Amino acid sequence: MSKKPLFPQLNGMLYGGDYNPDQWLDRPDILAQDIEYLKKAKINCVSLGIFSWSSYEPRENEYHFEWLQQVMDNLYANGIYTILATPSGAKPAWLDKNYPDCLRVDNMGVRYHHGDRHNYCMSSQNFRNKLKNINTLLAEKFSHHPGLLMWHISNEMGGECFCPECQKKFIEYLCNKFDNDIDKLNKAWWTTFWSHKFSCFEEIEPPFANGSIDIMGLNLEWKRFTTWNMIDCMKSEIEVVKSFNPDIPVTANLMNMYNGLDYRELAKEIDVVSWDSYPRFHNDWESFEDTMREFSYSHAVFRGLKKDKPFMLMECSPSSTNWQAYNKLKRPGVLRLQALQAVGCGSDTVQYFQIRKSRGSFEQFHGAVIDHAGIDNRIFREVSEIGDILSKISSVAGTTVKAEAALLFDWDNRWAIQDMQGLCNADKKYEKTLVDFWREFNRLGAEMDVIGTSDSFDGYKIIIAPMLYILRRDVAEKLTQFVKNGGQLLATYLTGYVDENLLCHLGGFPGENLSDLFGLYSEEIDTLFPSDRNGIQFRGCDNTIEVFDYCEILKIKDAEIIGRYTDDFYKDTAAITVKCFGEGSAYYVAARTKAADLAPIFEQMLKNVGIVPNKMPPHVLYHERSGDGERYGFYYNLGENQIDIKNVKGIDLASGKEIDGELVLDKYAVAVVKF
Ligand code: GAL
Repeated sequence: MSKKPLFPQLNGMLYGGDYNPDQWLDRPDILAQDIEYLKKAKINCVSLGIFSWSSYEPRENEYHFEWLQQVMDNLYANGIYTILATPSGAKPAWLDKNYPDCLRVDNMGVRYHHGDRHNYCMSSQNFRNKLKNINTLLAEKFSHHPGLLMWHISNEMGGECFCPECQKKFIEYLCNKFDNDIDKLNKAWWTTFWSHKFSCFEEIEPPFANGSIDIMGLNLEWKRFTTWNMIDCMKSEIEVVKSFNPDIPVTANLMNMYNGLDYRELAKEIDVVSWDSYPRFHNDWESFEDTMREFSYSHAVFRGLKKDKPFMLMECSPSSTNWQAYNKLKRPGVLRLQALQAVGCGSDTVQYFQIRKSRGSFEQFHGAVIDHAGIDNRIFREVSEIGDILSKISSVAGTTVKAEAALLFDWDNRWAIQDMQGLCNADKKYEKTLVDFWREFNRLGAEMDVIGTSDSFDGYKIIIAPMLYILRRDVAEKLTQFVKNGGQLLATYLTGYVDENLLCHLGGFPGENLSDLFGLYSEEIDTLFPSDRNGIQFRGCDNTIEVFDYCEILKIKDAEIIGRYTDDFYKDTAAITVKCFGEGSAYYVAARTKAADLAPIFEQMLKNVGIVPNKMPPHVLYHERSGDGERYGFYYNLGENQIDIKNVKGIDLASGKEIDGELVLDKYAVAVVKF
């Protein structure tokens, strides 16, 4: 694969963050000083204008772009590029006052007051008109500025709106989806249940909290609609900026495991994926190492949205945040780990929220590159050190991470599981299960992508499909083909229960003929109380692994039984099975266990397809990027003590030293080795 740097102008990595000079226009001394600070930290790009609508247009139709022109010019003259945002992340007060339909309506039908941010009604024509106007003026003036690197559409789009206009659009969306045939919809949503049959589309309402929340198909379709509507609004923004200069790429900053939008759909409409990462380091419920590995998983999720190119770490805090329950400081060295972890996982950028702390309001105590007191502090020193390292690893830009194993994750599967009435209603832990599986492969030394069921499975040798509750026919066929051609597939309890409209598959789970692929069907599923335990004993050995939360009781057709339950009325029945199918194998794990307890199965799967894992010593995280025949190993010491890693040969890019066999990493140290 050849290297595809996101920003060839930069000759390497992008280093920057959100900057709000419009908060400081009466302090030109500070703005001039900031540029010197940025250069000192080797920052080569800032994101501007994210919340600047009221600075551009303080009163309706009164415009001020001169400050932006000056700031962008000054930055560019000093070698600092700009990512320019469209300002829809927050609305000016006059807009909501003059056009109240721009305000959202909540799920009880109550319209919001003006304030806060990320809260426009996506359907309001007044909003779209005013947005188009301000975006047109911005793009007209700045889309050919030599310092402009990229457009940043809005900010962290999310939420939903239940206003009459959105309801109207929802109905149109449904008419379109169900071919204007209300019977088709009634059938798909099983509305005869509780007398919910609709006689026409106009009777359908969104799932108001005090309305209809008991039609699973409707709930899911509302989520899909909200994604569609948000994307539609986003596309209207993209259209404007692209019309002035189609060569400037666009991104939208996404949020970690955000539940409200199907990011796979959204990613199709942007050029580059970027995301905002705020781990809760040093917490009191998991190890530092687990948090770090979980965030490698998150990077893999975002990487998987556009696999052929690097992504961007758009935001992270240089220090603490201010909005979490406990805003703990990052310990020395942790920012370096976090920044270079993103790069190791495939990001071509490290960006912060925020460059300079705002003096007042909500985020005045949020971590920043430049503190109220200036730059003579630990944070700025750490930020500068990272700037220095990024300049030394510039040749990594444009390389990508290659994985031969993939984890399947779909947003609509997630929504459907959350909404499913049954099992443990409080939390079915789908998201946690995904992370646990991914982390275990990571510990074993196998890189893993996170992809959707609609993505191509080509190039993968292993697919892990936890809790694949929604099973479409095309996906079942793809999985069957995958195994037939030599792939290793592992599925779990809750596989293949419903179709894309959430109607149960008839004839046994998993549906769509997957019961033939696995050689079994699930007869019942048991939900355990939190203190209940069962066990699984592996065939031919004495050790038993612990089982909690869910146990499916299986009827075996022609699968081989690898493990059996140790307790309860289903003692000795099958809990883990495998079936050889075509050239490959299909594993089924019928109960929830710790992912680490399944390591022997994962290792067997890796062996079956000849993947030799690159297993690291304990507490070492490893990622690799490659392209144009170059390979870069990223080694991270997540532990408290110095660690020696054997068999490493190459150049440590930060120090320039040759490593000939042994790489020594101090606590929280990172090495980027060019092999
Ligand atoms: C992000 C947001 C930023 C800032 C940051 C604080 O979610 O995009 O504008 O508020 O959080 O951590």
